[in-house]
Amino acid sequence: MPSVLIDGKEIMANPGEKILWVALRSGIYIPHLCAIEEAELSFGGCRLCLVDIEVDGKREMVTSCSEPVKEGMKIYTNTEKINRMRQTAFELIMTDHYIDCGNCVKKKECELIKIAASLKLKLRSKRLRSIVRELPVDDFHPLITFDPRKCVKCGKCVWMCQGMGKSFLNFAYRGFGMIISTFDGIPLSSTECKSCLECVMVCPTGALYFKETGAREVAQKIIDPEGNRL
Ligand code: SF4
Ligand code: SF4
Ligand code: FES
Repeated sequence: MPSVLIDGKEIMANPGEKILWVALRSGIYIPHLCAIEEAELSFGGCRLCLVDIEVDGKREMVTSCSEPVKEGMKIYTNTEKINRMRQTAFELIMTDHYIDCGNCVKKKECELIKIAASLKLKLRSKRLRSIVRELPVDDFHPLITFDPRKCVKCGKCVWMCQGMGKSFLNFAYRGFGMIISTFDGIPLSSTECKSCLECVMVCPTGALYFKETGAREVAQKIIDPEGNRL
């Protein structure tokens, strides 16, 4: 079992475990948006989980969601440089985010609010201009709503959908124009979506949300464990 030092605290990790999960398990918070513990390959898109590592006297900056621990590794999660870089990454993520917390059903569990607090930032950047795009809200599905203006392109819903053996939600376009979309932008309800609702469960923002509390219970009554409608 490798032993590592995180911010001076000695912690035992599992072989091959990624730094992020070791830290979180030990009560050391590292901001993260796109990491999925079960995923074999890390997406590495948000860059919020940066840490400094030191191995054999060599120091470098890595994304903690993709870097496995090594015996004797020293990990620094809270340096001035790391915090500056995380702040910039977060401000960039928020430039095209539609901030509407007062009306957002996810406001009590929103990961963006948690990250902003940890970085001592407001949700709206003081430095960068906001450029929220007019993207249509998909409200046709009987159980869930998708508001792409609140999507941070973390890819978690895509990973979940693919994990169920489907690909109804995916990345579309590139660069600033990138969005999460169904094929050809049709409503989710017009795909063969089986309403497993895993995408909603994993979404860290108000982009995918249940129309009503109890939607998951309703879905469980009409969907079998393989994701087929009963
Ligand atoms: S997703 Fe979070 S930051 Fe965005 S509007 Fe909802 S509560 Fe606010
Ligand atoms: S819809 Fe949610 S889970 Fe999917 S990419 Fe956007 S923010 Fe992430
Ligand atoms: S959580 Fe590591 S890059 Fe997003």
